[in-house]
Amino acid sequence: MRNLLANEALDQLFREARTHHAWLEKPVTDDLLRRLYDLLKWGPTSANGSPARFVFLRSREAKERLRPILAPGNVEKTMTAPVTVIIAYDLLFYEKLPKFFPHNPGMRNLFAANPQLVEVTAKRNSSLQGAYLMIAARALGLDCGPMSGFDNARLDEEFFSAGRECEGCEQEFFPTGHVKSNFLCNLGYGDPSKLYPRAPRLEFNEACTVL
Ligand SMILES: Cc1cc2nc3c(=O)[nH]c(=O)nc-3n(C[C@H](O)[C@H](O)[C@H](O)COP(=O)(O)O)c2cc1C
Repeated sequence: MRNLLANEALDQLFREARTHHAWLEKPVTDDLLRRLYDLLKWGPTSANGSPARFVFLRSREAKERLRPILAPGNVEKTMTAPVTVIIAYDLLFYEKLPKFFPHNPGMRNLFAANPQLVEVTAKRNSSLQGAYLMIAARALGLDCGPMSGFDNARLDEEFFSAGRECEGCEQEFFPTGHVKSNFLCNLGYGDPSKLYPRAPRLEFNEACTVL
């Protein structure tokens, strides 16, 4: 039996949650980033493929690598955010399907033979996982500032060694250019005094049909 979440929780996740552009000077710990991942990873993906990869940029050095890749309007908010996460996707996600989707052993080969299916599946599901990240962040008391205003190709070149080997990279998904960026999300504790008024959303009858 599932419980309906309390109104307070629904407000925190949705109704009162805003996209933030200015940040309080309160750090986001590594422990919190791990708790964030340990929640978002449970969100569903096609064939449990989990194609998203997350790069948390915290250090000044890492942020400076990102700076020239950002649209001008996204620079200040990103450079001042405690953490900026690159939500990316691994085009070789299907290599892990034998472990993550063991009840259908044919699935790996289905993807291996169809690069178009790989791309669309990786992008769709990494977008979903990025959304899970934002909702999980809000559940943990964090604020988010998602952004698509940046040069994806330049980011992939800078952070994912697009098409090159990468000496000394620790994570297995960095080395050979099979990871691509989807979008960015600033994380931290937003400054509510810097928000502009909430813009409206479509009403049910404008966005939905029940057939
Ligand atoms: C995928 C995505 C990309 C976005 N890109 C940008 C961006 O590049 N720059 C920016 O300032 N805001 C960006 N936004 C923020 C949206 O404009 C914002 O979430 C929307 O207006 C709703 O604001 P609210 O959450 O405060 O109601 C983006 C949001 C999403 C989800």
